[in-house]
Amino acid sequence: EVFDVMVVGSCMTDLVSQAPRLPKAGETIHGHKFFIGFGGKGANQCIQAARLGAKTAMVCKVGKDFFGDNYIQNFKDNVVHTDFVEQSSDSATGAASIFVNSAGENAIVIVAGANMLLSSKELQKALPAISHAKVLVCQLEINPQTSLQALHMAQENKVKTIFNPAPAIPDLDPAFYRVSDVFCCNESEAELLTGSSVANIEEAHWACQELLKRGCTTVIITLGSQGCVVLKEQGSTPKHVPTNAVTAVDTTGAGDSFIGALAFYMAHYPTMPLEEMAHRANQVAEVSVQAVGTQTSFPFKKDLPVELF
Ligand code: RIB
Ligand code: NA
Repeated sequence: EVFDVMVVGSCMTDLVSQAPRLPKAGETIHGHKFFIGFGGKGANQCIQAARLGAKTAMVCKVGKDFFGDNYIQNFKDNVVHTDFVEQSSDSATGAASIFVNSAGENAIVIVAGANMLLSSKELQKALPAISHAKVLVCQLEINPQTSLQALHMAQENKVKTIFNPAPAIPDLDPAFYRVSDVFCCNESEAELLTGSSVANIEEAHWACQELLKRGCTTVIITLGSQGCVVLKEQGSTPKHVPTNAVTAVDTTGAGDSFIGALAFYMAHYPTMPLEEMAHRANQVAEVSVQAVGTQTSFPFKKDLPVELF
């Protein structure tokens, strides 16, 4: 079986509270809505790719608990292959406590739980599939060494890689750059990794150059409502890819929608210019910010204009 997109990454149960603003330390405030959803950056990206029509498989670990059982059913409902989804009785399914304010901004605490138990043992089991996949995607909500090993496996087998260093860590192993065909992060992650401000398009251009120097093939920095900046090769000029102005209800997971869409385009249209893929992925992510939740807001192929396919 050949998969278009494989994701080695996280699953989290999202516990979401909507409130007028984010609480301060020591403060209790009233919110107006609470819901539980399926999240985790890895699974979010995989499910967005699947909803656009990619044949996907997820490599991850959940707990042997109610949330884990439900998550496996969620993958099945979204036609994601689950042979590499393991359940562990040693830890609970990952959870994310999320606050969303009236501007659609969020603050998140994740407790990775079973995600941290995903190891090289599970990667070995998935290796035959990984080595034949078109695109492999990794993030940083599992043990970073597991992500790095998965990216290495893909690279050795000439599988295209997308690495999303999220949530960012200041002491990122420099080997991550060399195994990334597309190194894709948001402005705050780019700031943490480069140590300089990424508050506008010009600064994002500079950060792209800096990250590219570290050894990745291409770099994309997403800038929320300002779209993204794409740098294809050393010495060339970064390109700004703007997005349409929309009213954001909940931006949680918009970056995951973007990356899932990017993975879909890389698998289905391997010769399409990267800035065109980014332009289309912007439009997919734009839909996601206009509805609440993460996966609940991710569009299906049938909901999108035909020009995107
Ligand atoms: O990127 C959004 C995701 O981050 C949420 O779904 C939450 O689970 C956290 O992992
Ligand atoms: Na959303």
